[in-house]
Amino acid sequence: MSEVPNIKVTIDNITVEVPAGTSILEAARKIGGQVAPPTMCYYSHLKGSGGKCRTCLVEVSKGSEKDPRPMPKLVASCRTGVMDGMEVKSMTSEKVTDARKGVTEFLLLNHPLDCPVCDQAGECHLQDLGYEHGKEGTRTEFERRTFEPEDLGPYIQLNMNRCIMCFRCVFTAEQLTDYREHGILDRGEHARISTCISKSLEHDFIGNVIDVCPVGALTDKTFRFKNRVWFTKPVDAHRNCSNPKCCGEVRLWMRGDEVFRVTARKDEWGEVAVASNGKPGWICNECRFEKKSTKDWVIEGPTNINRHSVISQGHYDRTVHEAQVELLAEVIGKEPVMKMDIHDVSDVNKPNVHLSMIDGPAHSEDFK
Ligand code: SF4
Ligand code: FES
Repeated sequence: MSEVPNIKVTIDNITVEVPAGTSILEAARKIGGQVAPPTMCYYSHLKGSGGKCRTCLVEVSKGSEKDPRPMPKLVASCRTGVMDGMEVKSMTSEKVTDARKGVTEFLLLNHPLDCPVCDQAGECHLQDLGYEHGKEGTRTEFERRTFEPEDLGPYIQLNMNRCIMCFRCVFTAEQLTDYREHGILDRGEHARISTCISKSLEHDFIGNVIDVCPVGALTDKTFRFKNRVWFTKPVDAHRNCSNPKCCGEVRLWMRGDEVFRVTARKDEWGEVAVASNGKPGWICNECRFEKKSTKDWVIEGPTNINRHSVISQGHYDRTVHEAQVELLAEVIGKEPVMKMDIHDVSDVNKPNVHLSMIDGPAHSEDFK
């Protein structure tokens, strides 16, 4: 078979050679850094993903060597192939910057700003997108659409209010599991992720929908509300998993000796990293939800976390910091009064445990 010839494409004034048939987005990722457009729906390991969210828009200022005319509109880089001699502007285009602001605002039209209580905070792609490409204010005054939380069984919690309809979880269930039990119901404004008759999602690979969800719409019930991600320490580990589809290479999110959460390993684009066998590193439910002890794993060492990530902020040395001074009474000019008892409203806090009173950090046993 003849080899696919490489072609040249220039993105933000950097030229790269890629095989014909590569998308602009993958070519930009080859250059790396901020040249790579943000993505909220594309996922390189999921066939058919992309083309839904428009966060990856770029400007094509020269179509190709043969036909140098610019493309009339911004294009979705995840769904547009490169041509030989193509010139693309991503971070160097004002039009693109403006469009990304608009797309971010659009994605946030219905998304609740509940980051302080959302488990995805600190590793949410929409949160990052908002900080990097969003505007300070909002122009909308109408109420956001809301849904009742839906129980998807023992492992996965769906909070549909946060969903941005990226379809990644649907593709994951379709391509990784033997039978898909959830999908998108209804159309337009009413479209939502659901199981139709509130089934539980129980296939042995379904936990991967948690890893692909870019926001906090699908979260891990075994970890939910138990810790903030930046307080935990990620550690790479592996085990000989008997499930032939599972790579057995994971990331343990620990606090002290306790394993709070197990996830697949992620690469620099926030996607499941390629495992040592060269395949995408999807993991099975048993590794993710049942193996919560260090005895179950061969620990490889601490995960190398990007220093710009909020997760790296937890690596502090308590001994060099002084205890924080209580300033609230001084700021409000009187002693604070308790307006709400968390035990009356939370279904995860044990009524006899007051988190502010316990000695040291909270652990699993402090929650229901
Ligand atoms: S639940 Fe998450 S992964 Fe599924 S469509 Fe919504 S945002 Fe995407
Ligand atoms: S990442 Fe390209 S359209 Fe969503």
